[in-house]
Amino acid sequence: MPSKMTEPRQLFLHELGDILYAERVLAKALPKMAKEASDAELRTGFEDHLQETRGQIQNLEEAFRALGEKPTPERCPGIEGIKAEHDEFMRQKPSPEICDLFLTGAAARAEHYEIAAYTGLVTMAQAMGEKTVARLLKENLGQEKEALKKVETIGKRMMRSSATAAMAA
Ligand SMILES: [Fe+2]
Ligand SMILES: [Fe+2]
Repeated sequence: MPSKMTEPRQLFLHELGDILYAERVLAKALPKMAKEASDAELRTGFEDHLQETRGQIQNLEEAFRALGEKPTPERCPGIEGIKAEHDEFMRQKPSPEICDLFLTGAAARAEHYEIAAYTGLVTMAQAMGEKTVARLLKENLGQEKEALKKVETIGKRMMRSSATAAMAA
C-alpha cells in the first residue's frame, strides 16, 4: 500500500480487504460456535451461516477481480476483538444455557459489525458507479441482516423461556 492514501478508491479497497479478512475469521469461528451451541436451532443457524459466509468470501473475491485487483485481506482488529471476547468468555466454561445465550449476543455483535461494513461499502460502490461490485456487496449485506434477525429471534425465545423457568422455580 502507498504510504499516504489520497484516493477514495484506495480506501474502498482497504475496507474491502478488511471485511474479507473478517469473513475469513468468521468462517473459522462459526464451526466452533456451532459445536458450542446446545440449542438445535442456534446450532443449525450457525451451520447455515457458515455456508453463506463461504459464499460471501467468494463474492468479495469476485468484487476484487471486478475492480481489476487481486483479493487482498487486510488485518481487521475489530473482528479479532469480537472473537477475543468470545474466546475469553468461553474459557469460564459457562452452563449450556448461559453459553447459548452468550452465543446469540456474540453472533449479533459480529452481524452488526458486518452490517456496518457492508452498508458503507455498498454506498461507496454505488457512488463509484461500480454496479457489479455493489450488487455482490448488497447480496452479502442482505444475508447479514437476515442472520441478525434470526439470531435475535432465537435470543428472545431463550430469554423468555429462562425467565419462565426462573419464575417457576
Ligand atoms: Fe459475513
Ligand atoms: Fe454474518
